[in-house]
Amino acid sequence: MLSFQNVTRVFGQSTAVDHATFDIDRPMMVGIIGASGAGKSTLLRMINRLTDASDGRILFEGQDILPLKGADKRRWQSQCAMIFQQFNLVPRVDVVSNVLHGLLNRRGLGATIFNLWPREDISRAIAILDRLGIAEQAAKRAEALSGGQQQRVAIARALMQDPKIILADEPIASLDPMNAQIVMRTLRQIHEEDGRTVIANLHTLDTARRYCDRVIGMRKGRIVFDGVPELLTPAAAREIYGAGHDFSEAATSTEIDALDRPEAAMRDDAYAARLLAD
Ligand SMILES: Nc1ncnc2c1ncn2[C@@H]1O[C@H](COP(=O)(O)OP(=O)(O)OP(=O)(O)O)[C@@H](O)[C@H]1O
Ligand SMILES: [Mg+2]
Repeated sequence: MLSFQNVTRVFGQSTAVDHATFDIDRPMMVGIIGASGAGKSTLLRMINRLTDASDGRILFEGQDILPLKGADKRRWQSQCAMIFQQFNLVPRVDVVSNVLHGLLNRRGLGATIFNLWPREDISRAIAILDRLGIAEQAAKRAEALSGGQQQRVAIARALMQDPKIILADEPIASLDPMNAQIVMRTLRQIHEEDGRTVIANLHTLDTARRYCDRVIGMRKGRIVFDGVPELLTPAAAREIYGAGHDFSEAATSTEIDALDRPEAAMRDDAYAARLLAD
């Protein structure tokens, strides 16, 4: 499905991604971990062509996506939606319009500027918000929502593109543990129910272990671990994060289990309550 072949990205003197090679041969949820500067974002951004590779090939269903230009490049970008740590919503614009922005690659700029959207697009946007438990927020400005809700809007915007792949660059790094859990479960659910591949850069080991089918560990641009979470032993983790480091699991853990669940915060959010029930 998705194949990385010796993909390298050089910035001046430094090699951000160094001959990355791996295959994702079926829909799965992949976590990418590694210390700051290891190349995780660069790797992800090369997939949807936000960053160009210096060398190598990235094949999707047999086609090299690196040389794509113009309309072909935009078509590819709409197949691999990206979500970001800072949500990247338009804060003063209402939630449903933010979700409709997911169609930008397909519908062009005119529709966005004048807010002219076909009725069926609007219904679909609301149906997606409903699926993620935030339909009641549709008319509010994005900035009025909590961080966890904003990230769900960003996921809804990604789903609006009907992508084959969802790329998530540290999707929970700005969220409290409860909202982090809601967002990760939402991504997991989208993978399981829709069969979409999710590739997420994660800064905590326990999140990668808990939600991902496969973990790719990067160190200084190179892939130094690629396997199921069960193989992610403390020794493997030290290899990823650096053996000389004063490595401790706790330093990379969000410790969701240790928290008292803020039940009151969940009471108004039936979706969150259902997701967190098990
Ligand atoms: N646009 C750029 N120009 C120059 N150097 C860059 C650029 N983007 C990334 N780099 C460098 O490439 C390396 C990898 O950066 P990248 O952002 O991919 O790491 P990361 O693993 O995502 O780190 P973090 O966990 O801090 O987000 C770093 O040394 C970084 O300084
Ligand atoms: Mg990064």
